[in-house]
Amino acid sequence: MTSTSELFFTLNGERVSLPGISPSMTLLHYLQQSRRTGTKEGCGDGDCGACTVAIATRNSEGKPCYQAVNSCLIPLGAIAGREIVTVEGIADGRLHPVQAAMVESGGSQCGYCTPGFIMSLFSAYYDGKVDDFSVEGNLCRCTGYIPIRHAARQVTNAQPVDRFSERLAQVDLDLSEVAYSTQAQQFYRPTQLSEALELLQRYPNATLVAGGTDLGLEMSHHRRSFPVLISLEGVAQLQQIEQTSERLVIGAAVPLQTIETTLKGIFPGLDEMLHWFAARQVRNRATIGGNLGTASPIGDLPPVLLALDAELKIANSTQTRTILLADFFKGYRQTDLGNDEIIVSISIPKSIRGAKRLSQAYKVGKRGTDDISIVAAAFVVDLDDDRAIVQARLGYGGVAATPIRAIEVENLLVGRPWTIETIQMVKPILRETFTPLTDLRGSADYRKLLVANLFEKFFVEMEEQS
Ligand SMILES: Cc1cc2nc3c(=O)[nH]c(=O)nc-3n(C[C@H](O)[C@H](O)[C@H](O)COP(=O)(O)OP(=O)(O)OC[C@H]3O[C@@H](n4cnc5c(N)ncnc54)[C@H](O)[C@@H]3O)c2cc1C
Ligand code: FES
Ligand code: FES
Repeated sequence: MTSTSELFFTLNGERVSLPGISPSMTLLHYLQQSRRTGTKEGCGDGDCGACTVAIATRNSEGKPCYQAVNSCLIPLGAIAGREIVTVEGIADGRLHPVQAAMVESGGSQCGYCTPGFIMSLFSAYYDGKVDDFSVEGNLCRCTGYIPIRHAARQVTNAQPVDRFSERLAQVDLDLSEVAYSTQAQQFYRPTQLSEALELLQRYPNATLVAGGTDLGLEMSHHRRSFPVLISLEGVAQLQQIEQTSERLVIGAAVPLQTIETTLKGIFPGLDEMLHWFAARQVRNRATIGGNLGTASPIGDLPPVLLALDAELKIANSTQTRTILLADFFKGYRQTDLGNDEIIVSISIPKSIRGAKRLSQAYKVGKRGTDDISIVAAAFVVDLDDDRAIVQARLGYGGVAATPIRAIEVENLLVGRPWTIETIQMVKPILRETFTPLTDLRGSADYRKLLVANLFEKFFVEMEEQS
């Protein structure tokens, strides 16, 4: 890759060229610094949506679209060569239809959240479906949501033909290779896995970035810069989803929004957990590999993937290996991943042949959406024709230093009948299986109770459905 010292992108139709700028600077920080103050900062950590901008990309069906993203979490390196639209760029002598709808519905009082809402609505407008979920990642403290929902309804199902839809049809959405360096920092966006692995071998202390929704907090809140960042966003091999009759293989850099729409209905626990996972702007960028790579004990996908017996494919520049997810987490925020390795894909076996599979996932948080878990749990139980348990997997988050399975109880369940008596028998054991911490979100006792009671809830729900 030939290195350049100029980072460029398109902002509201104009080419912006930034020689020598830090590739770890967030887009929001840059917008503020260049006096483009329409885009607001509320929380600076992806929670409020005030900083939402639109980025031209492809949706999960491969069609060109504008995607709402939190500019407070995106490093400038990640938008190299891309097309960004902010609230300042959408009116053209007259208000854009989504702005007009907000005005007519009285959807703005103090107005601080409004640019973010507008950009979420704008992105959904060109995707042809505006609904409540289009603005799930935007918070408003004073107007109340009814007028905003009215505005959304006014512009739903539009099939706009205007300069933005025309631009989407023209712009090159394929991510090109980027090798950008300043005196102190380097940013790479390879397009081949082999290149990414070679870079990692050359720079053993480099930091991998996928969607940046975890790492972005370091750049946003802590204004941290990284000497070498290697983005995985442009690597096509990491973006694929493959299905065989036996397994489903998800590329590590597949965004959660794509998994949510493309794999709907295959794994009920995955569907359920993605529904409660952050909000639209975060899921548009966050990847499945990033959720495992960050190794958070309260990550929401690990319990689901543990219960599904997922296996990871991991590569370095010389070899590829596989490891069960259950063996991947080694300690608090520690994994089995070497400095020179990348998670390539996550492989999930389908149901055991001949068995009836019951599965579901649960997330308990302080509020419904856009919150982190107090405890997350996912269960997969396979039954034979006599309703005896052939295999059980119980995955938990928020109860130990790592996401973890209740292996003792799983073993105890095998061969027993799937009855309330069996559940009552294992509940006291489940309650004492882990030694969770007490923190601001919940006490250790509350968490222990959830570990046991969520399994009973699972039993009751499965019985109701059968
Ligand atoms: C507002 C907000 C809400 C959130 N809500 C939730 C939630 O509800 N549930 C939840 O679980 N998480 C949540 N998160 C955390 C975060 O969104 C997820 O962990 C997400 O899946 C991270 O993916 P990413 O691609 O953005 O990771 P990045 O930030 O790009 O990377 C995270 C880590 O993984 C490493 N990494 C990334 N890809 C790979 C790879 N292929 N191989 C090896 N290492 C890799 C990176 O080096 C980094 O250390 C939230 C975050 C925010 C900001
Ligand atoms: S400033 Fe709150 S999400 Fe970015
Ligand atoms: S209008 Fe004031 S925060 Fe939404």
